[in-house]
Amino acid sequence: MIDRQKHLLRLADWSEERILETVDIACRLKAEVHSGQYSDRFKGQSLGMFFEKPSLRTITTFQVGIHQFGGLPVILDPDSIGLGKRESIKDVARCLSRWINALVVRCFKQELVEQLALYGDIPVINALTDDFHPCQAVSFAQMLREQMGDFQGKTVAFIGDGNNVANSLLTLCAKLGMNFTLACPKGFEQPKWIVEESLPLLKKRGCKYRVFNTPEEAVVDADILYSDVWVSMGQEGEKESKQSHFLPFQISDHLLTLAPEHCKVSHCLPAHRGEEITDSVMDGSKNFSYEEAENRLHAQKAILWQVMTATKSIK
Ligand code: CP
Ligand code: NVA
Repeated sequence: MIDRQKHLLRLADWSEERILETVDIACRLKAEVHSGQYSDRFKGQSLGMFFEKPSLRTITTFQVGIHQFGGLPVILDPDSIGLGKRESIKDVARCLSRWINALVVRCFKQELVEQLALYGDIPVINALTDDFHPCQAVSFAQMLREQMGDFQGKTVAFIGDGNNVANSLLTLCAKLGMNFTLACPKGFEQPKWIVEESLPLLKKRGCKYRVFNTPEEAVVDADILYSDVWVSMGQEGEKESKQSHFLPFQISDHLLTLAPEHCKVSHCLPAHRGEEITDSVMDGSKNFSYEEAENRLHAQKAILWQVMTATKSIK
């Protein structure tokens, strides 16, 4: 059995209180970094990083983050390790647990992060799977806290594919009492089981989950529009067939005129300028993607703080 509090495998495992506490820690750590003084809380500890998919933000910020904490990042090369081929997942997880203090994993199947958590003794952090991107959601929450103050009753409108980022943002909304709107072409909605998992919590908080098949309807009451690539990593083969469906789902200056005046925009990045979002919106004053990108550092340090504090020493 996995102790799901020990890890961050999916945001659904963490309570509202734990998420809010993580955002508070992230804000404190951000202030520290801005003042030039870092806590070396994890001095002498090591953080393993296993990335099966490309990354700029996640891999950089975890490395910088553990370095600021006085620890060592250890990059693990998937080709060299041959997980499940050269060696079993079980044996890799057991060995890593003897050397490093926590493991950050970006991979295709959610099942892999779950197995690494099951077989190892160290905390595992999901740095993006085909299903979820919890680190992005916590960084987004920190940005919302900074830009809007409060979460309760706000409306997040995700314009695009019902993908891993959309799934984690939906969970975040359910946990923190925000409405979630998805605007996507028919057939590109979020998996039913993920939506159904969030619905009772949304209902309890008096919040709505809505899906529209045009972006115009989705933005009218939004506090923030969220964008992501139409074709996620691993789906490159679907690019041609997907793109034509998604063309109307672009965040543009025109779309923003249909949203409330105060409505902001964010994108998890990397952005495909001219596809899901225009240059003009990316470079405009309503775009808070770069604030969110900065928060990847602080929010992930806060996640490390939460999971590594509980297991500060290894055997
Ligand atoms: N948003 C995000 O996870 O960026 P990277 O893929 O560059 O890590
Ligand atoms: N949905 C995107 C997010 C990239 C950070 C992908 O999985 O490629």
